[in-house]
Amino acid sequence: MRVAIIGQGYVGKALGSAASRAGHQVIGIENDLKKLAQLSSSLSYEVTDDYSKVSSSTILVIAVPTPLDEKREPDPSFIESASRSLKGVLDSPVLIINESTSFPGTLRNVIVPILGNKHLYASAPERIDPANEIWGIENTPRLVAGLSDEATTRAVEFYRSFCKEVISVSSPEVAEAAKLFENTFRQVNIALVNEFAQIADALGISAFETIKAASSKPYGFMPFMPSIGVGGHCIPVDPSYLSFASGLAGVDASFIDLANKVNALMPEYIAARIEKLLGGKIAGKKIQIAGISYKADVSDTRESPSLALLEKLRDLGADVTWHDELVGACNGEKSRKLEAVDLGIIATAHSGVDYSPWKISQSMVIDLSTNPNTGWKKFL
Ligand SMILES: NC(=O)c1ccc[n+]([C@@H]2O[C@H](COP(=O)([O-])OP(=O)(O)OC[C@H]3O[C@@H](n4cnc5c(N)ncnc54)[C@H](O)[C@@H]3O)[C@@H](O)[C@H]2O)c1
Repeated sequence: MRVAIIGQGYVGKALGSAASRAGHQVIGIENDLKKLAQLSSSLSYEVTDDYSKVSSSTILVIAVPTPLDEKREPDPSFIESASRSLKGVLDSPVLIINESTSFPGTLRNVIVPILGNKHLYASAPERIDPANEIWGIENTPRLVAGLSDEATTRAVEFYRSFCKEVISVSSPEVAEAAKLFENTFRQVNIALVNEFAQIADALGISAFETIKAASSKPYGFMPFMPSIGVGGHCIPVDPSYLSFASGLAGVDASFIDLANKVNALMPEYIAARIEKLLGGKIAGKKIQIAGISYKADVSDTRESPSLALLEKLRDLGADVTWHDELVGACNGEKSRKLEAVDLGIIATAHSGVDYSPWKISQSMVIDLSTNPNTGWKKFL
């Protein structure tokens, strides 16, 4: 099949590589010229900013950002502008698939009105989990739904060529909503466990040990770990797409909104607990944070709650540095070697970090990471 993928970020690249491994002729379209220059040498297929090159493709996949705007409401402008660019270059009918995460109705009410009725359309939301070594694009079941039977059949055929399991659902809206609901399930459960961490502390017990104990129940319980909050561009963002759609439909998404609030307040709560741990004397204390990306073994710092904690600790007067070789540099600051400090904080536990400078210097260390197996005593 001749496939063009619009957007060569995390999702577009993963799809391009999988489709190319499956023997399809792939072309990637990327409009960030800086990124494009770096991509060209690292990919097995052609990448370009020239939209006219998509005219030879019969399948077009949209994988562009779907962030929140300044009011923390959905910003579909990347999807709209990619659709407008495609409209200018598509003469004959093709299959257009949207993989970008968005609210139910995006395919039908945002993309189709721009591109017109002559094409086939399907929604196939991407579920990839960065740095997950077990579940990847090929073995994570893929949800697919076309706007017509023919679109569904063709989209299913495409995804079957490199995904082990493809599940067709009755409408693009179900596929779009399923993706949002999956991440909302995580967001709400993370907020619940973060609230529980606060309750447990007030009751004088360890949240971590309690969750481990509750996990021994073989049914009806799924453990989530308390942490500094949520980061990346899925869990802090996708539920707000569902909440927005829900508001338009006249339903109050109270769980989602409350979970957002609880998670967003975690850095402040933890900074206050750290101040207490240091006997109320945090000003001037040397604190080092290990891991400032939002997730272990990825370099992405978008919406990272570790950065929010760093700011809160600085606001309280602490002298805070950070160590994260994967991130390297962020907000004009560079990763620092681990060193003797008053307090070391493991915020995100990347693999292979050598914490011996903290051990040798007998620095006090607290572990706030969601990795249950770091070997450090958990703070929450
Ligand atoms: N990264 C993930 O873990 C993940 C997982 C599942 C779903 N998603 C969803 O997939 C979509 C893409 O995510 P991502 O992580 O790949 O984003 P990203 O920001 O890494 O990449 C998107 C790319 O699209 C490019 N782009 C934007 N507008 C364009 C246009 N008009 N033409 C060509 N290129 C354009 C950007 O320059 C960028 O390189 C989002 O909706 C996201 O929510 C992401």
